[in-house]
Amino acid sequence: MQRTTYAGLVNEEYLNQTVTLFGWVDRRRDLGKLIFIDLRDREGIVQLAFNEDKDQAAFAVAKEVRNEYVVKVVGTVVNRAQGQENHDIKSGKVEVEVTSMEVLNASETLPFEVRDNTEVNEDLLLKYRYLELRRPSMQRNIKMRSTITRATREFFDNNGFLDIETPDLAKSTPEGARDYLVPSRVSKGHFYALPQSPQQYKQLLMGAGFDRYYQIARCFRDEDLRGDRQPEFTQIDVETSFMDQHDIMDFTEGMIQNVMKKTLGIDVTLPFPRITWQESMDRFGTDQPDARFGMEIQDVTELITENDIATPVFENTDHEVLARAIVAPGAADKYSRKAIDAKEQYLDRYGVQRLVWAKVGADKFSGGSGKMLNPIFAELTNRLGAKEGDVIFMVFDRFKVVSDVLGALRLNVAAELDLIPENVYKFLWVIDWPLFEYDEGDQRWVAAHHPFTAPNEGDEHFLDDGEDPHQAHAQSYDIILNGLELGGGSIRIHTAELQEKMFKALGFAKESAYAQFGYFLNALKLGFPPHGGIAIGLDRFARLLTGAGNIREVIAFPKNSKAIEPMTQAPSVVSDAQLEELGIKVDKKPEINE
Ligand code: AMO
Repeated sequence: MQRTTYAGLVNEEYLNQTVTLFGWVDRRRDLGKLIFIDLRDREGIVQLAFNEDKDQAAFAVAKEVRNEYVVKVVGTVVNRAQGQENHDIKSGKVEVEVTSMEVLNASETLPFEVRDNTEVNEDLLLKYRYLELRRPSMQRNIKMRSTITRATREFFDNNGFLDIETPDLAKSTPEGARDYLVPSRVSKGHFYALPQSPQQYKQLLMGAGFDRYYQIARCFRDEDLRGDRQPEFTQIDVETSFMDQHDIMDFTEGMIQNVMKKTLGIDVTLPFPRITWQESMDRFGTDQPDARFGMEIQDVTELITENDIATPVFENTDHEVLARAIVAPGAADKYSRKAIDAKEQYLDRYGVQRLVWAKVGADKFSGGSGKMLNPIFAELTNRLGAKEGDVIFMVFDRFKVVSDVLGALRLNVAAELDLIPENVYKFLWVIDWPLFEYDEGDQRWVAAHHPFTAPNEGDEHFLDDGEDPHQAHAQSYDIILNGLELGGGSIRIHTAELQEKMFKALGFAKESAYAQFGYFLNALKLGFPPHGGIAIGLDRFARLLTGAGNIREVIAFPKNSKAIEPMTQAPSVVSDAQLEELGIKVDKKPEINE
């Protein structure tokens, strides 16, 4: 039964040889005395030729097979007739003259075609996910993902990192999302939490002396799903001892360099730019900057206020008001007043009162706030590097609003003006984050990264009584690829004293911190090394490298937007006996998943 090679790999090297192939009937063309079949496997397709005059038995089978039949064929590799070559596929110069074909299994008509770019309802695709996975784009994605993990392991294995598994039946740790809980049968009324990340365990591995750890780790978070989020996802998880943040970033870059080379054959230049959180917000209006194009945010507060423009906006307020701008190159013809009004309405969600805008003419502005800005035409265009035909967009507001609005507008305008180059990979680090951030939803301060993150050296005192902890910055770093957070990490707190202060700043009483994290706080008192690490989202990385629109496309069996897996119908109702064994009573009548 030995296969000679994959169907998709048959090429001129096999000319005149007899080959044995296995695969699926992708397409069949019946030309009377001649039948052609495209045979497909995970490496691609090869053309099979059946000639009634040459081989009647094989021809008879070819007459009967239908799409998606699984077959074994034996035949001779020959050159295709002149003019019949297909330069889009590896096997396109040759075909296989089949001498025998055996049907290993028939197939009923599929619920949808195994083709890319056909419109099929998403839940139907997920219900028959194994069929969707047969599509060429999905085969490519899943293979690319495997190459990413292989290149990742290769790098860490070669650099003395140990691959260590950590539990999935674990205790809840605070990464910020809701936990998935698993009831214990033995300890009734007790629950394991599926890990939101291996954070605590990997830190404890540093306490155990395994100073270079990595794991391709499965994580679980019950949160609202978006294109970049799945309830279960995978991290390339790393922790090290005795390294500073720049050492950890260097290692991460080495891993990324190996992945880029092995997946796309791209040589990335190291080191990646490292910009502070403040600089990222100032230049790009976001902490996940897309550096593939310019159109950066520029500050013109001084110019605007010194020239008494819109004075009441800057003076009649109890907070600092900034004037910042972006310049949309050559957009004057593209944007009508109506189009800009629509932008203003869209940007309303970020709390903007008014979008100040003007089209740049030869020696004056027109449209929008042109009249108001004309007195400073020369200074403003000079300062912003704006040319005739450009559109200037400005926001006069507090830092957060200015950043959010111009950050969103920058992306929106760049997409509309086609300024974002394809097949370009711009990595950068955002470092020096605030230690805390304000959660507008919950109306409280939370750890910007997580509660185990160390403040910057010299900022520890902000956690002392009587000081303002929210001024502290952190030894944390995010890696961004093309405007998407790929991963993040930090140097950790490694003394119990500082960790206690951190919990206190987050509003935990000492007793409740010990009740929840006593095992960890105690460990820090028992000879714990300085340490730090990072986690890269593997699914996001694979999504960006494959160019997929959604991380679902790089996960073999993902969940839909309701966290349901339509193929197996998980989650599902379980029997009363199972519930009884767990000591669980279900109050709500379960809805049946469709
Ligand atoms: P963080 O929470 O920033 O850090 O997660 C690290 C990376 O994991 C990916 N990610 C996700 N991917 C898909 N679906 C999700 N629901 C999801 N949530 C997160 C992102 C993110 O950048 N323990 C820390 C890391 C550390 O400090 O070492 C952590 O988990 O790409």
